Amino acid sequence: MGARAGRRGLFEGRAELGVYGFADAGRFAARLTALLGVPGAALAEHRFPDGESLVRAPGAIARHAVLVRGLDDPNAKLVEVLLAADALRRAGASRLTLVAPYLPYMRQDAVFEPGEPNSQLVVGRLLAQAFDAVLTVEAHLHRVDDLAAVAGPGARSLSAAAEIRDWIERHAPGALVVGPDIEATSWTKTIATAGGLPWIVGSKQRHGDRRVTIDFTDVPEVRRAVIVDDIASSGATLAVAARRLRRHGIRSIDALVVHAIFAPGAARRIREAGVRRIVSSDTIVHRSNAFSVAGVIAAALAPGGEG
Ligand code: R5P
Repeated sequence: MGARAGRRGLFEGRAELGVYGFADAGRFAARLTALLGVPGAALAEHRFPDGESLVRAPGAIARHAVLVRGLDDPNAKLVEVLLAADALRRAGASRLTLVAPYLPYMRQDAVFEPGEPNSQLVVGRLLAQAFDAVLTVEAHLHRVDDLAAVAGPGARSLSAAAEIRDWIERHAPGALVVGPDIEATSWTKTIATAGGLPWIVGSKQRHGDRRVTIDFTDVPEVRRAVIVDDIASSGATLAVAARRLRRHGIRSIDALVVHAIFAPGAARRIREAGVRRIVSSDTIVHRSNAFSVAGVIAAALAPGGEG
């Protein structure tokens, strides 16, 4: 009884919800904190000479701790979020939500060649063990359509369709919305139809990390298009799609992605294919960031949300 009462006393007056960010997620964490009107603090990070990491939770931790980190360049960052989860629980958090605006390893969602892992499940299980909930935006989910099946019952992939539509309406009104592959059909349709915009999807085949072919049929006669995709990595998909659309006579082409991974040389490749503007959301810090999805996450964390 004594120890339990002492523990309650120690944490009396704690905030219900608090946002804790790694330094590299600082801007996104600050946006979230401001939108939610809750306390926020940074985690202290240390890298030992041998490459190991140490993470320290700041002072008084809220009952529901929200840890924010985009997981681009994921290998070291994944270990650090697992360390942070343990640190936050030991410091008093009774509920722990990971906000990973970009969630990695979602594309290897099956064993494509003998001897490979299902990376999606490996990473999902790790996160499910450490967190009560995982919130992300537009996770790359093709063969599995519910993130809860990958990263535990509290995991949700939130839609950025409204934010994307809003960008198109403000910057490329009336544009043809183009999804590069059949898997993007429902997403592309959702973005376009609520804004009354025309849309098409391509038929894409990947022949290697940096080589794809895409065909479009029934391209309407329009002057302006916005290619939308969840991720740009090598830039091959956007570049090839843009070249194809130009052959159909479309002269003004923008490319909009949610997760701006952009491997070295990708942006140049896309521009050389005739793309006028390359824009992205703020899930990964990049000079192309043009709109924020922090509001989508904040809505899920607000009272009545499920974060
Ligand atoms: C694939 O299904 C995704 O939606 C993206 O189209 C893909 O990951 C983009 O990769 P890259 O930029 O290397 O073509």
